[in-house]
Amino acid sequence: MMRILLLLFVFINVVACNEWELDEVGVITEEAMVVSAHPLASAVGAQIMEQGGNAVDAAIAVEFALAVVYPDAGNIGGGGFMIIRMDDGRIDALDYREEAPAAASRDMYLDENGEVIEGLSVSGHLAAGVPGTVDGMVRAHEKYGTLPWEELVEPAVRLAAQGFPLTEKEAEKLNEHQEDFLEYNTVPPDFVLKDEWEEGDTLVLEDMARTLALIRDKGRAGFYEGPTAALIVEEMERGGGIISKEDLAGYRSIWREPITGTFGDYRVISMPPPSSGGIALIQLLAITEDYPLDQWGWHSIPSAHLMIEAERRVYADRAAHLGDPAYYDVPVQGLLNINYIKSRMASFSPEEATDSDEVSAGDPAPYEGPNTTHYSIVDSEGNAVSATTTLNSTFGSKVFVDGAGFLLNNEMNDFSVKPGYPNQYGLVGGEANAIEPGKRMLSSMTPTILEKEGELYMVVGSPGGSTIITSVYQTILNVIVHDFPMQGAVNAPRFHHQWKPDGVLSEWRAFSLGEYIKLWLMGHRVVPKPGTIGRVDAILVRPDGRLEGGADPRGDDMAIGF
Ligand code: GLY
Repeated sequence: MMRILLLLFVFINVVACNEWELDEVGVITEEAMVVSAHPLASAVGAQIMEQGGNAVDAAIAVEFALAVVYPDAGNIGGGGFMIIRMDDGRIDALDYREEAPAAASRDMYLDENGEVIEGLSVSGHLAAGVPGTVDGMVRAHEKYGTLPWEELVEPAVRLAAQGFPLTEKEAEKLNEHQEDFLEYNTVPPDFVLKDEWEEGDTLVLEDMARTLALIRDKGRAGFYEGPTAALIVEEMERGGGIISKEDLAGYRSIWREPITGTFGDYRVISMPPPSSGGIALIQLLAITEDYPLDQWGWHSIPSAHLMIEAERRVYADRAAHLGDPAYYDVPVQGLLNINYIKSRMASFSPEEATDSDEVSAGDPAPYEGPNTTHYSIVDSEGNAVSATTTLNSTFGSKVFVDGAGFLLNNEMNDFSVKPGYPNQYGLVGGEANAIEPGKRMLSSMTPTILEKEGELYMVVGSPGGSTIITSVYQTILNVIVHDFPMQGAVNAPRFHHQWKPDGVLSEWRAFSLGEYIKLWLMGHRVVPKPGTIGRVDAILVRPDGRLEGGADPRGDDMAIGF
């Protein structure tokens, strides 16, 4: 049996896996760049900057374009987070996360015995939170935009109305989800017009084009009021959902102060709660700083062991202490206190894995007061945007708003539906992330910007649910500690630990066979995962000021610029 497993391992490693080079240098441009999950969306963003738009203008256009050409995660029926750094050093964080409808309640996914009803928070109408994307883009434009709003939405209207060719990966994904689309929709959506989609087929989204045209012409009111809002409410009534006209009218995205920290000479700027991403990333980097990973080497046993042990402790804190700050007193300063972070490693043994059952959340100083996609953009002035946006699962709740042509999120599953009960990513949570009307569900999205000596250095982020934080963490280490080019750092295989369940997920090539065995002998339950972890899109400012893109080869991602 063991021999068969070893042979299978070698076969998958050598034959079946793509090998992406760690020293590969990505696309280099002189002035400006967009890296996103879809070539057409990257092209739209680059075009906006060529027309004179800044990075925020480009981000708005990319966000709407992704809603059309990358409907797995691009959206107008979901939400996201955006980190902005202007060339004069101003930094900002925009929270356009979905929120629980007013009729939501703590136990809404439990049966009369208090047991979780499987799947209810994952698919179908009840899984959807109140969407935030359109309001978020309007706020971003009000504060930072330079081109007229209509010009930023128009490319997406055109893509939806005229149609666009499906990539092989997108055709496959639409085919995989045909049954879901039929099961969760009362009226069959455009995605099931064909039984079997093929690469190169043109997908035309007429209803989506009409909705986008309303957003182009009326801004916020084109979505949260009038015909689009009416169609959302009708869809909810047909499918047993609870988003109301008042929920839509009341939704507002929020400008927040970014979370900042340091890693050696670098300043890290990332997303505050209701995302856990920024706090967790800065905790991970602060722990890592004390150890000579550069001498130990990339994915060597001591490096991997240290990183896994850091992740175990940081995700234990995430489960206990993080939630929407409007509803729960998140001890942000306590969690980021350097002495507190270092104290979390007191139980670290360099020899063996700690049992997750022996690691609980720490006791930081108390509160002191009051399937997702990422794109990275730098414009020719040096302004930068790092944005992660999501429907949660691939194609979200699978529910289309009939007549309006867009998918609704299933972000309610990011709440803790019952204390200790894992969400679809296996993450557990408690009081901090319990469901309450109007509350925003905890996220792992980690849009991040790094400065070096006060100058823009890197723009980075990833999709991947709970693996977002660890994908961003590893990409940063690959560049700063291990000296990989941006593309090589993105290519590099990844691994992930999240405290519970107590196991390490890894891409096949993350370790050699010998390293897998050594990690198991240390007590790490490392399981190579079929498929991939994360999908990082990043930009690095090189010492000569030119930009290098890191577009993830795990998808159709592409860096385009000039
Ligand atoms: N929906 C994934 C996240 O926000 O973490």
